[in-house]
Amino acid sequence: MSTLLEMLGCRYPLLHDLGMKGLHLLLALPHAIRAAGEGVDGLVVSGSESGGLRSMGSESSTMVLVPLVADHVKIPVVAAGGIADRRGYRAALALGAQGVQIGTRFIASEEAPAPQVWKEAILACGDGGTTMVPLNMKMRVIPNKKLVDLAADPTVDLSQEYNLMNAPKGWMSGDFDLFPAGAGQAASLIREIKPVKAIIDEMVS
Ligand SMILES: Cc1cc2nc3c(=O)[nH]c(=O)nc-3n(C[C@H](O)[C@H](O)[C@H](O)COP(=O)(O)O)c2cc1C
Repeated sequence: MSTLLEMLGCRYPLLHDLGMKGLHLLLALPHAIRAAGEGVDGLVVSGSESGGLRSMGSESSTMVLVPLVADHVKIPVVAAGGIADRRGYRAALALGAQGVQIGTRFIASEEAPAPQVWKEAILACGDGGTTMVPLNMKMRVIPNKKLVDLAADPTVDLSQEYNLMNAPKGWMSGDFDLFPAGAGQAASLIREIKPVKAIIDEMVS
């Protein structure tokens, strides 16, 4: 019988046969334990402050989930979520990660193909400036007026108003009424659009 990971197309023995390594992204401890048992080479542990798609259930933050997973597995752990500068990077290593995965900080880089309006939405995002849009999964976004108005109306079903499939189009065109700007909580730490090299140099300095 196929394992869950095989059904999802993630056959780690096959990757290994091809001379490749596979890291499994997860949002909760049980999935980390399961993936480690399936023979993955490493885990990307994504805390609740991350940008991107999230689960519909309750989730732990990077500060809690990374050491929790690190305590339960013997394979490399990559921390994702809330890391935007040297402090976050060092904290991730101190929590037991061997590396980090960065999303939001790189959107607000000079090289990112994101439109200027998306980068500026990240720069303008303050403390508590992101929210989760509950669709068939949750997506962390920076709310604009349309989303704020819709969310304030208890008769509105947001999953009827936004289609996840429109997220790339909305983001890359800067049409945040089509889909609100994606970003993690780390947006509030980002004050400048910088080259990727400058971001990484500062992070590992
Ligand atoms: C706008 C946006 C879109 C994302 N899309 C994906 C995706 O398609 N697949 C994926 O595995 N992770 C996706 N992520 C998650 C990132 O790969 C990364 O794990 C996450 O952004 C880390 O949190 P941070 O944004 O706080 O750095 C996305 C993140 C953002 C901000």
